[in-house]
Amino acid sequence: MSRTVLITGATGSVSGALMNALPGAGIRPRVLVRDASRARGLRERGAEVFAGDLGDARSLPPAFEGVHDLWLLTPNGPRAPEHSSNALWAARQAGVERVVRLSAIGAAYDAPNRSGRLHALSDQELERSGLRWTILRPHWFMQNLLNEAGDITATGTFALNMGAARIGMIDVRDVAGCAARVLLDDPGRHHGKVYTLTGPRPLTFDEAAGALSRVLGRPVSYLPVSDEAKRKTLLCHGVPLWIADMLEEYAQAYAGGWGDLATGTVATLLGRAPHDITAFARDHATAFTPPEPR
Ligand SMILES: NC(=O)c1ccc[n+]([C@@H]2O[C@H](COP(=O)([O-])OP(=O)(O)OC[C@H]3O[C@@H](n4cnc5c(N)ncnc54)[C@H](OP(=O)(O)O)[C@@H]3O)[C@@H](O)[C@H]2O)c1
Repeated sequence: MSRTVLITGATGSVSGALMNALPGAGIRPRVLVRDASRARGLRERGAEVFAGDLGDARSLPPAFEGVHDLWLLTPNGPRAPEHSSNALWAARQAGVERVVRLSAIGAAYDAPNRSGRLHALSDQELERSGLRWTILRPHWFMQNLLNEAGDITATGTFALNMGAARIGMIDVRDVAGCAARVLLDDPGRHHGKVYTLTGPRPLTFDEAAGALSRVLGRPVSYLPVSDEAKRKTLLCHGVPLWIADMLEEYAQAYAGGWGDLATGTVATLLGRAPHDITAFARDHATAFTPPEPR
């Protein structure tokens, strides 16, 4: 019997990659989206589409009816624990068997960033829910560099307040690959496991810039900037204050060496090495390349 998998966050980065990683047959994918009119592509790829908002518990029950497995991704923000709790409650009410939750690297009550502390609350709630569960804690996404694509394309530089941080950054496609692996395996197999997912090795942003330069065939360099300068840029681009504060907390932790780790978990789960920064740069080269003049 094929299992119905409810995917939250399907219009976003990780769950979008999860949709690509799931096979076309053998499971029934269902997506929860806030705006069903934005889910045409997901429907065309075979997903059943349900409208619902993780911040509105009353909107959730129809999407959870008949679901076997929940992929639970909550967007960053102060309401993340409420969103996760609403989804868990709806899952319990509907008799969902298993929840696979996207958490974050170093999630803990004493993490040096609010996102890590809030994820820890939701991780603990899931662990005590009585449902089968698996938690994925990925490191900093390589795809975050796509936020710098405009600057890289225009000036050949990108500015971050990460100092000389060395980070075990991971390609989102590997996070999605691990999520798919867990969801496709027998529900008991990964129950009670917390997987810390990283790329192949910790990298500095100078090294990331070097990989981009080699792949793009033009110089790209990293400009370390102050917290104040980065905050000003983020706020000017309309990033909410809570997110700017969260990013600053991460940057300070990373600049102090907090992210300097790599695990072999992706290779263990997927039976292959994780994508490295060169593969990321190659596969996203067009995003970092100025359009041809018309
Ligand atoms: N970036 C990193 O380096 C990193 C590292 C580790 C962990 N993480 C974790 O990754 C998660 C973010 O994943 P992502 O990058 O894939 O996010 P994303 O691309 O920003 O996508 C967020 C998704 O959440 C949906 N969403 C937003 N508010 C919602 C609501 N109230 N109800 C239902 N759906 C809602 C959005 O849908 P709409 O189309 O409705 O907007 C979108 O599909 C966070 O939990 C973060 O802590 C990030």
